[in-house]
Amino acid sequence: MKTIAVYSSKGGVGKTATAVNLSYAALEQNKRILLCDMDSQGAASYYYRIKPKKKFNRTKLLKGDFLQFIRETDYPGLDLLPAHFSFRNLDLALTSEIDQPDRTALRKLLYVLEDEYDYVFLDCPPNLTLLSENIIVAADCVVTPVVPTTLSVLALEQLLKLFRKVACDKKKLLAFFSMVEKRKSMHAGVMKKYLKYPIFLRQSVPFMADIEKMGLYRKPVAAGPTRSVAPQVYRALWQEIMERRLKG
Ligand SMILES: Nc1ncnc2c1ncn2[C@@H]1O[C@H](COP(=O)(O)OP(=O)(O)OP(=O)(O)O)[C@@H](O)[C@H]1O
Ligand SMILES: [Mg+2]
Repeated sequence: MKTIAVYSSKGGVGKTATAVNLSYAALEQNKRILLCDMDSQGAASYYYRIKPKKKFNRTKLLKGDFLQFIRETDYPGLDLLPAHFSFRNLDLALTSEIDQPDRTALRKLLYVLEDEYDYVFLDCPPNLTLLSENIIVAADCVVTPVVPTTLSVLALEQLLKLFRKVACDKKKLLAFFSMVEKRKSMHAGVMKKYLKYPIFLRQSVPFMADIEKMGLYRKPVAAGPTRSVAPQVYRALWQEIMERRLKG
């Protein structure tokens, strides 16, 4: 089992769109997939048409009592652990349950899934907290979407700082340009400057109406009524992530 966290401290950069579409791209290769919706906003759960059970909450999650709350999606082989409103305080819970801040709590929780899934995706909330440290430690690969603007690049620099703080191998961090509008000179300029760094994947994700419309159809783009290249873009992104980080 490999764990892929889609993470950025910055909001609205395409984390959920990426987690939803990469998990579907992995399913297309006949793998067993779990998508964990770690964000109390529940956007990934919404896209996959899944509501949390009322009895589920963050205390149960942190006690490891979450297997019974995993749900099947409309796509056999792809399961989802829905978010719960109480996840908004996961940080507080992580800090208060133990004397010392525990960066390994999430990793320990995920052990139990080891034989059940090939890939576990984490759709993460936009923050820079103890939960973020747990996510970085738990993941085999942290994929971070970067909109080609200066502020988004700043978020990437903060993420690198966080990797240093928790002494995590920077090799597991992969960035890609998200919501790219090439006709914007700022986007083109930022990409030209940063694409040469090995942390960046070659494949980027353009700003596309089909991806925006996922909220309408509540399906990954490849399962919806698309005629655009969006499904191929996510397949290529997944392929590159596997080649760079997950094979072998
Ligand atoms: N490549 C894209 N092209 C067009 N729209 C996109 C693209 N990626 C994401 N969007 C849209 O932009 C909005 C924000 O995307 P998304 O929810 O995936 O970001 P996020 O980083 O998960 O946000 P949050 O930090 O709030 O969790 C959504 O309405 C989504 O449909
Ligand atoms: Mg999101």
